[in-house]
Amino acid sequence: MVPVLTVQEAGKQLKSLWQEEGSLGFIPTMGALHEGHMSLIRRSVNENQFTAVSIFVNPTQFNEKHDFDHYPRNLETDLETMASFPIDLVFAPGSSEIYPEPDTRVFDFGGLDKTMEGLHRPGHFNGVAQVVSKLFDIIRPDRAYFGEKDFQQLAVIRALVRQLDIPVEIIACPIIREADGLAMSSRNKLLTAGQRTAATGVSKALFRARDLAGTLPVDKLQEKIIHLLNKHPLVEVEYFKIVDRENLQQVSDWSEAGAKIGCIAAQIGKVRLIDNINISS
Ligand code: PAF
Repeated sequence: MVPVLTVQEAGKQLKSLWQEEGSLGFIPTMGALHEGHMSLIRRSVNENQFTAVSIFVNPTQFNEKHDFDHYPRNLETDLETMASFPIDLVFAPGSSEIYPEPDTRVFDFGGLDKTMEGLHRPGHFNGVAQVVSKLFDIIRPDRAYFGEKDFQQLAVIRALVRQLDIPVEIIACPIIREADGLAMSSRNKLLTAGQRTAATGVSKALFRARDLAGTLPVDKLQEKIIHLLNKHPLVEVEYFKIVDRENLQQVSDWSEAGAKIGCIAAQIGKVRLIDNINISS
């Protein structure tokens, strides 16, 4: 599989697909592909005649240089990982292809981008919106596939598509977990053996929260989970919040209507992990 490196070449190759009957599925990624990404690719291949994948570590969504510099990159391995799938286009542009000029657009997604990741990673969702809107413009997919591990990102992308009237269907795909519960993530590759063991505490804490839902007030449950997890010397919780699945606003009482989700971000050494779980009380 030969990746396409330029916007112009991607357009040339896609032109024939756009003209053919049948839908185009798209999986935007930052590479370091794992089984979570494969589940998105598999689904796209099953649901569409054509599938495109992008691999681009987007600088504008990183609020920390260290995180961007150390983000795992290995195009060769990624291409091998995807080799057995009938993928029609792998788009792996350099930064100057996506950003020939600085992208100065500023997005506002109401409350969706101002809580949780939005508070802890200033500018992150603006960068995600910039790159995803550009990628949608270049690829022009009928459907785009995103993992529910990045639950807030999914909500922001749905809002982006509504705001810009982009004719694409956003498909949410379930979290894929390792056998011990750890949510699959490209960042898991950065964990040392000790940190990897500690990281299982994150999903365990979420399962515990799900089991305890309704047995104590929401704020007390949040505190308890944070306290439990912080007991581990390698783990530092940034937030654990039980929020409404639609508007991502903090739930204050179990009696509130609407589906709920528990979202967590924790730092394990220098590696930042996020995860979430549906909560019903
Ligand atoms: O979820 C990711 O990997 C990235 O945020 C995305 C959607 C590919 C945009 O860079």
